[in-house]
Amino acid sequence: MTETAILMVGDQRIELPVIEGAEGEKAIDMSSLLAKTGMTSYDPALGNTSICKSAITYIDGDKGILRYRGIPVEEFTTQPKPNFVEVAWLLIFGKLPTLQELAEFREQLTTHELLHEDVKDQFQHIPADAPPMAILSATLNHLACVHKEHLVVDNSTMMLESVASLISQVRTIAAFSYRRSMGLPYIYPDPNLRYCANFLHMMFSLPYKQYIITPEIEDALNLLFILHADHEQNCSTSAVRTVGSAGANLFASCAAGVSALWGPLHGGANVEVMQMLERIHQGGISPEQCVRDAKDKSNPFRLFGFGHRIYRNFDPRAKILKEACDKVLCKIDRHDPLLEIAQRLEELALKDDYFIERKLYPNVDFYSGILLHAIGIPTDMFTVCFAIGRLPGWIAQWKEQNEDAGRRIIRPRQVYTGNVQTSYVSIEKR
Ligand code: CMC
Repeated sequence: MTETAILMVGDQRIELPVIEGAEGEKAIDMSSLLAKTGMTSYDPALGNTSICKSAITYIDGDKGILRYRGIPVEEFTTQPKPNFVEVAWLLIFGKLPTLQELAEFREQLTTHELLHEDVKDQFQHIPADAPPMAILSATLNHLACVHKEHLVVDNSTMMLESVASLISQVRTIAAFSYRRSMGLPYIYPDPNLRYCANFLHMMFSLPYKQYIITPEIEDALNLLFILHADHEQNCSTSAVRTVGSAGANLFASCAAGVSALWGPLHGGANVEVMQMLERIHQGGISPEQCVRDAKDKSNPFRLFGFGHRIYRNFDPRAKILKEACDKVLCKIDRHDPLLEIAQRLEELALKDDYFIERKLYPNVDFYSGILLHAIGIPTDMFTVCFAIGRLPGWIAQWKEQNEDAGRRIIRPRQVYTGNVQTSYVSIEKR
């Protein structure tokens, strides 16, 4: 029997259907509320609102569960491990690829890895110290200028090409923006290298010296990208869906996702975490002071890399990354004092009442910076790496929404709190 929620507004009794997700999670269907009552639902920051039905990613924040298309992320960390390209396919096309599908996708990624020369030339006109996330967002829109064939995606072949162009070129754009910032010559992608290795090659090879790719570093980057690949309706993904709901193309929608991700409360937190750890390391502040500042309501400082809207127990990504940091640093025989500082901060926060009461735990951004640092990625490129990882998720969510026959433009309501009707007063009389 279908469950119904009863809402009493004054004398009016309103019945609202309850819908149930695949894992038994329930939601009250409010879509008829306005028509039935003339009232909207008020849910600032959408903390209680499911904006869509989605079959891509499942999260149980209380239990610390994260699954892509039903597969727990922990399974991507043990042998036989998939690589990022396989996980991207899984998210976007809904199932694990066959050998042939994976080979075709890889070929498409190689075919589309080069930037159009006009896009490449654009880098010369960008200030060398421009923020890499601004470059990334602008360049994704620039791709739409030179690949107009991707603006309307109306068949599966074109969809595959659009997906491959974006996933392949985002990596080239990221590497070129880094090279530009360093005044180094651009290194073209090498078709013989795998996805992560190719990114490292474009970032760090020199015309006279090939970057040597160690398996540990390639694996660590692969893991990072996989753990960032999707996270259901987070801020940047909601931005992608909102823009896409107006019928905007995939490139424009993903560029909006990059802009949202840039914010320090979202993907930009990984940069903030690293800067915070470096400040502590350089003696600017102690870990104890840092925790005190984060609790002080008169201080806007937050303990970056801590807290999450959904995870109230632990973030499974942070748990995996913490272990990976230890392993990678040990394998590459590098001691990083920042890891010890991060562990000390975590220890202090986890036994502090403020953090316990508010259920604030380390999130994905707390340890990702240390891993990126070990890989050799400069701090201002951290959020760009998050974006490379998150791109398959944005594409999957855009595609799912686009294929939904019942799709409507996303258009929330508001509770107006401004002036009631008033009259215009001419400037002489004010
Ligand atoms: N340090 C200190 N206090 C915090 C923190 C923190 N990192 N996070 C939340 N709080 C406090 C907050 O002040 C509030 O306290 P009170 O109830 O006394 O007003 C309470 O905890 C609830 O916080 P909120 O801001 O209402 O929670 P939210 O769900 O709206 O925000 C968050 C979630 C992730 C934006 C927030 O925890 C935060 O700002 N964390 C630091 C930034 C960060 O690490 N972001 C990365 C998130 S994970 C990667 C991603 O998906 O983007």
